[in-house]
Amino acid sequence: MTKHSAVLTGLGAWLPPRVVDNDELARRLDTSEEWIRTRTGIRARHIADPETSTVDMAVRAGENALRSAGCDVVDALVLATTTPDQLCPASAPQVASGLGLSGIAAVDVNAVCSGFVYALATAAGLIAGEIADRVMVVGSDAFSRLCDPDDRTTVPIFGDGAGAVVLRVGLADEPGAFGPFDLHSEGEHADLLMVPAGGAKQRTSDDPHEHFVTMHGTAVFRHACARMTESARTVLDRAGMSLGEVDRFVGHQANIRILQATAKRLGLGEERLVVNIGHTGNTSAASIPLALADGCEEGSIQPGHRVLMTAFGAGLTWGSTVLTWPDVKPAR
Ligand code: UT7
Repeated sequence: MTKHSAVLTGLGAWLPPRVVDNDELARRLDTSEEWIRTRTGIRARHIADPETSTVDMAVRAGENALRSAGCDVVDALVLATTTPDQLCPASAPQVASGLGLSGIAAVDVNAVCSGFVYALATAAGLIAGEIADRVMVVGSDAFSRLCDPDDRTTVPIFGDGAGAVVLRVGLADEPGAFGPFDLHSEGEHADLLMVPAGGAKQRTSDDPHEHFVTMHGTAVFRHACARMTESARTVLDRAGMSLGEVDRFVGHQANIRILQATAKRLGLGEERLVVNIGHTGNTSAASIPLALADGCEEGSIQPGHRVLMTAFGAGLTWGSTVLTWPDVKPAR
């Protein structure tokens, strides 16, 4: 068999130490602890202090992933983020430099909450194309920075954090080898979740709200359930797997009700869901690697488990991949 598959060999996580629980938010916003918990499944989220940026979090998660993989170097780094430190340049080169890996290939991928799956696919392509033998994929987002501090419809939902994996070249049939990918987008729905100002089209706005994220929550919710279900089915079909063969479903942690609705449509029992949104909130591109780390540490994800990962985010974007969990322990 040709040796050009991407194999997961290390997993790192990093969360900012400051925890903001629902009670704290209920004291300053027109909301309640119960509303947030019952509508989203979120009890608390980690918020980066003003001195900690997306690059800082990515470097910490990356260091942990290298330790988990037992290696010092990679040939390339793909950073999934929607909150780069600057609009220009990309943040990935600064992450590589912060890891002591200046000189390697480094690029940002922005697919918002689907970013990690898109970045995994990019990394798998670098390996399959024999461009790199080892690639780090980091999902890092300081999404709280995009939320209007007075907006009760977004502040309770988003949290900050970073997760990273190391992929190496290997065989398609070994544990940790990524199976097929399924990736999609629908730009005609870009307005459903958007930061209108601050980009090159509209550098600044007199309306300060336009510099923060606006979200049509219910519409996003409906698209998320439909697309995650569809993508999970498609990727399994491509992998020649049935839903009965899926041991764990690691979906993007946006809302526990989205995960439950998707699992129900797929006919997956809730015992197969990996859920960590309760203490992280929606961490955008960091959501899936952070859920993988929690799932491993809690013993929910075990070596040999067939793990289905499905993400959905603004753009709209969505996608899935599947792998058999290798003997990898997360590092923090
Ligand atoms: O990562 C991918 C991107 N994001 C998502 O996937 C998010 C997807 N959407 C969601 O998770 C849900 O739509 C939300 C959690 C954002 C909202 O839940 P919902 O069940 O769709 O609520 P809703 O927007 O329909 O609002 C229901 C009610 C409204 O009041 P009325 O009109 O019924 O009187 C809202 O004004 O809840 C009100 N509301 C709140 N009440 C208390 C909205 N936000 C809050 C709040 N606290 N924080």
